[in-house]
Amino acid sequence: MQSTSTARRALSGLGLGLRRFVELAATPLLPADYLDLINPMRAGADLRGRVLGVAHETATSTSVAIQPGKGWRGHRPGQYTRIGIDVNGVRHWRAYSITSPSGDVITISARAIEGGVVSNHLLTALRPGTMIMLDQATGDFTVPHELPRKALFVTGGSGITPVMGILRSHLGELDDVVVVHSAPDSEQMMFRRELERLHAEGRIQLVTRFTRSEGVLPLGRIGEVVPDWRERETWACGPTGMLDDAEAAWEDAGIGQLLHTERFRPRVVAVGEGGEVTFTKAEVTVDAPAGVPILDAGEAAGVLLPSGCRMGICFNCVVPLAEGSVRDLRTGELTSVDPEDPLLIQTCISAAAGPCRIAV
Ligand code: FES
Repeated sequence: MQSTSTARRALSGLGLGLRRFVELAATPLLPADYLDLINPMRAGADLRGRVLGVAHETATSTSVAIQPGKGWRGHRPGQYTRIGIDVNGVRHWRAYSITSPSGDVITISARAIEGGVVSNHLLTALRPGTMIMLDQATGDFTVPHELPRKALFVTGGSGITPVMGILRSHLGELDDVVVVHSAPDSEQMMFRRELERLHAEGRIQLVTRFTRSEGVLPLGRIGEVVPDWRERETWACGPTGMLDDAEAAWEDAGIGQLLHTERFRPRVVAVGEGGEVTFTKAEVTVDAPAGVPILDAGEAAGVLLPSGCRMGICFNCVVPLAEGSVRDLRTGELTSVDPEDPLLIQTCISAAAGPCRIAV
């Protein structure tokens, strides 16, 4: 049997890539792991993507071109995908809209949010050649096969991202398109040049609203900028307040069925008292305010929590609630458990309702 020092000497004589392979081969890997080492994008492997390019859209937003692996089943414009990306040795999953037309290479676009681990990593550190994990595209914020005669897109901030995917794919088939887009100012408007070019070419009618100087456009008064809005099938994506406003305006007009919305965050219908949350394994206790998901409160305190879509869909954030009460931010429903009967909860849509203990 070869001694450790002999083996180490033998390894030191190998090239770096080959040495890495030999080191990995010396650990108990499964046959599929060896195949993944050779071709991580192969059919049958966990779905991955290779980053082909990273481009800034604005100073705080970026688009990432990705070559998906062989298992990618394609997407419908307007859908999103989840990416799994390693930041400082920790894998994080996040969902981003696909902004490219259907094709072999996809583009996701993201705006960096304050304290956002992944969105800031995409903006400042991601490099071409990086391998990331991918999920199949999903979401129903898409246009029907039979396209409407008149379409309206109402977007705010990064809510423009799924709409860009739709415009880039379907503009040739849509006759009459109005885009009403709000951004803090022109510098922070994603895809500004492309949208302005489409407007100049007469392919869309673009209405911009720069909220820092003009204030938020109340959607109850959208008729002032889009007089025929009641005749248009409408897709809206943006901040929660904007979408709530849109739903109220369309319902009041009796045309709620013409409005399709996409939320990046769950709609919070009820907030409670908040409370003290203890993450028992991490030995961290935080004051979690009412209306703040336990996921956000924990991450802000440096607790490593599983996550994914962050809006109640994927169930990646499920952890055991060992004791205490939480409130479902979407419904207001209270869930209480005692130590003898722990329960799994979704931290992205649950807020503390009094003191509680999370077994993480
Ligand atoms: S992160 Fe997807 S359900 Fe919570």
